[in-house]
Amino acid sequence: MPECFVAKASELKDGDRRIVVSGPHEVGVFFKDGDYYAYSNYCVHAGGPACEGILVNNVVDILNGDQTYEGQTFGDAVHFACPWHGYEYDLKTGECIGDRKLRLRKYNVVKRGDEIFVVI
Ligand code: FES
Repeated sequence: MPECFVAKASELKDGDRRIVVSGPHEVGVFFKDGDYYAYSNYCVHAGGPACEGILVNNVVDILNGDQTYEGQTFGDAVHFACPWHGYEYDLKTGECIGDRKLRLRKYNVVKRGDEIFVVI
């Protein structure tokens, strides 16, 4: 499987990403909380640049003991949102939050020394 250079690891700060193009493949490579994640940059909705949208923590409801609604807050899961129409994806799995049966194609990331590669 061909590998495509992404970046030097030392150049990536937490939350950074790079978009890598290799032939017909366009891949978003994220660095978050010490891990690398790589997904197809083609949104499952209409082919938008899914990996180029904002990173945001999930929103969770705050419920009282009697299950009445208190409000909302941010959770620990990190999502990224396609900039075209807002489809959100789970950073760790590539699953579409609105329909977990849908997901972006996942790619493997390899680190050699200070260099990061994605396996296309
Ligand atoms: S193309 Fe991504 S949300 Fe529509």
